[in-house]
Amino acid sequence: MTPYRLDQFSRDVVNPQNALSVVSICRRIEMDSALIGWSSNIEARIQAGEVYWDLACALRQIAEGLRPRNYLEIGVRLGNSTSMVAATAPNVSIAAFDLWMSPYAGLDNPGPDFVRRQLTGVGHRGELTFHDGDSRETIPHFLADHPAAEFDLVCVDGDHSDEGAWTDVTNVVGIVTPGGYLLFDDLTHPFHTLLPIWRRFQEEFGSQFEFVENLKDSHGTGVARRKE
Ligand SMILES: C[S@@+](CC[C@H](N)C(=O)[O-])C[C@H]1O[C@@H](n2cnc3c(N)ncnc32)[C@H](O)[C@@H]1O
Repeated sequence: MTPYRLDQFSRDVVNPQNALSVVSICRRIEMDSALIGWSSNIEARIQAGEVYWDLACALRQIAEGLRPRNYLEIGVRLGNSTSMVAATAPNVSIAAFDLWMSPYAGLDNPGPDFVRRQLTGVGHRGELTFHDGDSRETIPHFLADHPAAEFDLVCVDGDHSDEGAWTDVTNVVGIVTPGGYLLFDDLTHPFHTLLPIWRRFQEEFGSQFEFVENLKDSHGTGVARRKE
């Protein structure tokens, strides 16, 4: 892992080249209609000279700046967000947690074999483990089995209920490496109410983390960096 300050991240993440790199990684994976629409929108916004960043942009940029040794993701679906990290830091060791709820919001959710192919397709060479089931159970089981676990990069994008998201984020807060990052998605999603959960997280863990967020693009993304 390379030291990567939050102010540097804030400057880098808005570089149009970062968003264009996200689009280019998308072209190397299998996308469904929702992802095709999302990546076309990014491209259009950048071509129009707008500033844009979301979860995928943040993950790609952190993967480049931080060079994480390992990555824990809750909520994988087609492996789009996972691919951003895997393509940019190909040796990263990935622990992927998902319930493979299908359909998910009306979309296909084919499961681990599909995601494994996606990641191989973007050049991932590191370890990849899947932890299938409800993260309220699989995360505590994983942590009980790996009491010394630390992750340089963590993304919480699974259960979008208030209670489920709070459980996930508080279950993983202690395993973020000092200097590492934790990301939380869909703060402003119209079908969910996760912004107050993010605010509560900031209040309770503000002494341990520093934060940036973008409530303007996509459905809102929160970024927390653990202080050293
Ligand atoms: C929004 S999608 C993840 C999208 C992915 N992070 C990306 O940006 O490409 C949410 C995923 O979380 C999973 N999920 C929902 N509730 C869950 C739970 N309680 N435990 C584990 N996974 C869950 C769903 O199956 C779905 O695949």
